[in-house]
Amino acid sequence: MRLLLPAASGRPAGELTRDDLVEVYAPPSGSWLRCNMVTTLDGAANGPDGRSGSINTDADHVVFDLLRALSHVVVVGAGTVRAEGYPPLDVPQEWTGVRSARGLPDRLPLVVVSHSGNLPATVRDASAGSVLFATRSGAPGLADARAALGADRVIACGHDEVDLATLVTDLHARGWEQILTEGGPQLTGSFLGAGLMDELCFTIAPRIAGGDHLRPVGPAAGPGLLELRTLVEQDGTLMGRWFTTRT
Ligand SMILES: NC(=O)c1ccc[n+]([C@@H]2O[C@H](COP(=O)([O-])OP(=O)(O)OC[C@H]3O[C@@H](n4cnc5c(N)ncnc54)[C@H](OP(=O)(O)O)[C@@H]3O)[C@@H](O)[C@H]2O)c1
Repeated sequence: MRLLLPAASGRPAGELTRDDLVEVYAPPSGSWLRCNMVTTLDGAANGPDGRSGSINTDADHVVFDLLRALSHVVVVGAGTVRAEGYPPLDVPQEWTGVRSARGLPDRLPLVVVSHSGNLPATVRDASAGSVLFATRSGAPGLADARAALGADRVIACGHDEVDLATLVTDLHARGWEQILTEGGPQLTGSFLGAGLMDELCFTIAPRIAGGDHLRPVGPAAGPGLLELRTLVEQDGTLMGRWFTTRT
């Protein structure tokens, strides 16, 4: 992997070791919310199978795993959990040392966000501490979700809509300052639109998906300008860190 644009780290452009890559992607200290998404050259957020796994690349996998290892918690929309079959998360073995060196706990909790309160099947039997479910007090599925997971693992934020600012405050109160969201597009758009996102980690895979596909950032985002801070490349895959105007 090579660094093309070094602004965020101050490191000169050139080849990166694994340790360098950790430094290049390290978030600032304190509370930080970043999103990681991948897209094709024609702007698709998923491939013909309806999943992002069919559009990403080996280089993207490395950064995807590293971003998890550098986070206290991962927040994902229920649509992505259903489409991708997300299970409760494990930090890949190769990154556990990085995690402990930064004082992050072994466990990486998953927070699933849902408007309907319809708890996805793959997290229904999740063990305590591995999954939280964030929905709203008016959600039709709230009682069922509480019965399945236990009321202490269901966060109700807002009544008519899920109030993402309240959710972020709740996560901070649990000591989870470094928040990573892995989308999907609807949730990414919502975090951006609510002015809660600090950074978009965006991978451009050297592929054309063809056809008519979902875009990586949903319409709730509204227009806005982001600042490119870092750009990394491997085998034609471009991976950047764009900071929002919050930062
Ligand atoms: N390219 C990438 O990096 C990437 C990343 C992730 C996902 N994907 C792909 O994106 C597709 C799914 O797209 P999507 O936009 O439907 O994903 P999504 O945002 O994960 O799912 C939408 C669902 O999540 C919940 N949700 C999202 N934002 C919410 C909000 N602000 N408030 C309350 N609930 C919210 C709702 O769940 P309920 O239905 O339960 O109300 C909503 O129907 C899949 O094909 C997946 O493979 C691509």
